[in-house]
Amino acid sequence: MRIDKLLANLGYGSRKEVKQLLKSGAVKVEDAVVKDAKQHVDPNTQTVTLNGEAIQYKEYIYLMMNKPPGVISATEDHHDETVIDLLELEDQVYEPFPVGRLDKDTEGLLLITNDGQLAHRLLSPKKHVPKTYFAVIDREVTEEDVEAFAKGVVLDDGYHTKPGELKIIKSGIRSDIELTITEGKFHQVKRMFEAVGKRVVYLQRMSMGPLKLDETLELGEYRELTDEEVELLKNYQVT
Ligand code: URA
Repeated sequence: MRIDKLLANLGYGSRKEVKQLLKSGAVKVEDAVVKDAKQHVDPNTQTVTLNGEAIQYKEYIYLMMNKPPGVISATEDHHDETVIDLLELEDQVYEPFPVGRLDKDTEGLLLITNDGQLAHRLLSPKKHVPKTYFAVIDREVTEEDVEAFAKGVVLDDGYHTKPGELKIIKSGIRSDIELTITEGKFHQVKRMFEAVGKRVVYLQRMSMGPLKLDETLELGEYRELTDEEVELLKNYQVT
C-alpha cells in the first residue's frame, strides 16, 4: 500500500497534509526516512514511525454495537443518522460497514466491520446463520404460534419462511418472546408475526451465530470484538 494512503486512512490527515508530513522527514519505514508519497510499504511486516512513534496499523476492524433505535444500519443516509456516524473517527477511518440490516426502530447486536469476506459468509443465505431476537408482541402468543413458526409461515408476499424457533417467555395481553431464524428477509420477524395476526411492538437482536450482545453496552455504545470472538466468527460453521 502507498505510504500516503496508509497514513491518510489511519487518520493522520488528508492526502495533501500527509504529503507535507512526509516532506518534513517525520516518517520513517524501518529507520529510513521516507519522503516519497508514492513509496509502497507493507504495514503488516514493516514498522512505520511518525516522529519516532510506531503507528498502530491493523487491516481489519471488528466492532460490536448495541444499536439504538432511530439510527439507520447503513454507511450513509441523506436524512437520518447512521450507525457509522456513531463511531469515533479513529474507527471510521477503517471504512467499516454494518453486517446486515436492523430496522430503524430495532435495537441490539450489530456487527460492524471492514472484513468483506467475513460479512459475506455471515450473510450468505446458504450458510443459515441463526439470529436470535427478543420481541414484545401486542397480544397473546400461543403454542399454535410456536408450532406454526416451527413449520415456517407464509409472508405477505407469498414467501414460505424456513422454520423459526419460537420461545414464549411471558404470555399475556402483551407477550415476551425469543425467536431464532436462519434467514434475513426484509422485516422478517415483524412479518412472521403479521402472518399469525400479531404485531411486534419492540424488537432487539440478541445474537448472531456465535456472537452474543454484550449486555454491558448501553444503547449506542460499541466495542471492539475480542480476539476470541473474532476467531469464533471466522471459524463458525453451521451444523
Ligand atoms: N426482523 C425485523 O422485522 N426487523 C429487524 O430489524 C430484524 C429482523
